Amino acid sequence: MNPGEYSLRIEPHGRTLKVTAERPLLEAALAAGMNLPHSCKSGHCASCRARLLSGEIRYPHGRPLGLSEDEARSGYLLLCQARPLSDVTVEARHIASVADVEIKTLPCRIARLVPLAPDVMQVWLRLPSVERLPFQAGQYLDVLLEGGRRRSFSIASPPHDSSLIELHVRRVAGGGFTERLFAGSSAALGEGALLRIEGPVGQFVYRDGASPLILVAGGTGFAPLKSILRHVLENGIRRPVHFYWGARAAPDLYEEALLLEWTEAHPQLRFRGVLSEAAAGGAPHRRAGWVHEAVLAEHADLGGFEVYAAGPPALIEAVRTEFPRRGLDPQRLYFDSFDYAPDAVPRS
Ligand SMILES: Cc1cc2nc3c(=O)[nH]c(=O)nc-3n(C[C@H](O)[C@H](O)[C@H](O)COP(=O)(O)OP(=O)(O)OC[C@H]3O[C@@H](n4cnc5c(N)ncnc54)[C@H](O)[C@@H]3O)c2cc1C
Ligand code: FES
Repeated sequence: MNPGEYSLRIEPHGRTLKVTAERPLLEAALAAGMNLPHSCKSGHCASCRARLLSGEIRYPHGRPLGLSEDEARSGYLLLCQARPLSDVTVEARHIASVADVEIKTLPCRIARLVPLAPDVMQVWLRLPSVERLPFQAGQYLDVLLEGGRRRSFSIASPPHDSSLIELHVRRVAGGGFTERLFAGSSAALGEGALLRIEGPVGQFVYRDGASPLILVAGGTGFAPLKSILRHVLENGIRRPVHFYWGARAAPDLYEEALLLEWTEAHPQLRFRGVLSEAAAGGAPHRRAGWVHEAVLAEHADLGGFEVYAAGPPALIEAVRTEFPRRGLDPQRLYFDSFDYAPDAVPRS
């Protein structure tokens, strides 16, 4: 082996590759044709989390935001940021089922824009009639902008109803893309506007199983969970589902009425709307406080559950830190952190 070159062994795949001291482990694995889980490649989303079985690594900019102190202490690492300091063996998750889905770049039109809340727009996209975009419940797509920039949005419609693709887009003040969907922008994107999208992307997908589910959304984190909810309820999957949706105030629970209809029609579903900046207002399905704390208040033991969480990074961080302390198996916790894109290079 040359100086500054180490071996990287990836379990349970049993592959060994060479990696240089300056190269992120994920990049070396992808270059060798191994399709390991990843998404943002910037240390935020934690999709590339793996376990360090032996050897030493370093992070050039310190512990990445997507890795909690507890996780780092317990031997987890983020492959997209870690560089080797010695020969290294890691255990990485398998993503065979997601790898089966082809990533496409397609043109599409904005078919409809429906305001859901003062700062959330429901965007319906129509693909050309000859095109389809197969995806799994929970995945997202990238809207491709000029100059190679891209913006990620989760697909809210379920895979079995993909004639139009539904997105929930929160307006980001000063945002280059999201502002253009709202009236008053000088470069508005209205109904009929043409976009280019790439997808489906992401390993946050519904997994078959029998254990009860806890779904936790923050704000527009409802979008991928709506896809998962519709997939479960409309395909007759009988798992109990506890859905917790956190928002600032009641208008931000922008499809609350729909959820109440679903709980009437499907006894397997329980819904809590959790308001962080307003009182619960006497409605029996509402709570006041932080959404992850509402889950903990109602579940002394999370041992038997599978958890899906989507929304702002602070919510995901809280779920990842607190829920395993209540007995949740970290391997049964799936999450999508809505980090915003560093205006970076295209995804590989
Ligand atoms: C996997 C994934 C899925 C996502 N799904 C959704 C979704 O379904 N619905 C949705 O509304 N959003 C979602 N997001 C977040 C969304 O991608 C960003 O909000 C969006 O890219 C902002 O684009 P913009 O061009 O308007 O803002 P930009 O021009 O990129 O941002 C302008 C400035 O605003 C700040 N900013 C941008 N985005 C955010 C943010 N999200 N939170 C806080 N500050 C921000 C930054 O300081 C930035 O410099 C998702 C993100 C990821 C990674
Ligand atoms: S791909 Fe490594 S943290 Fe997102």
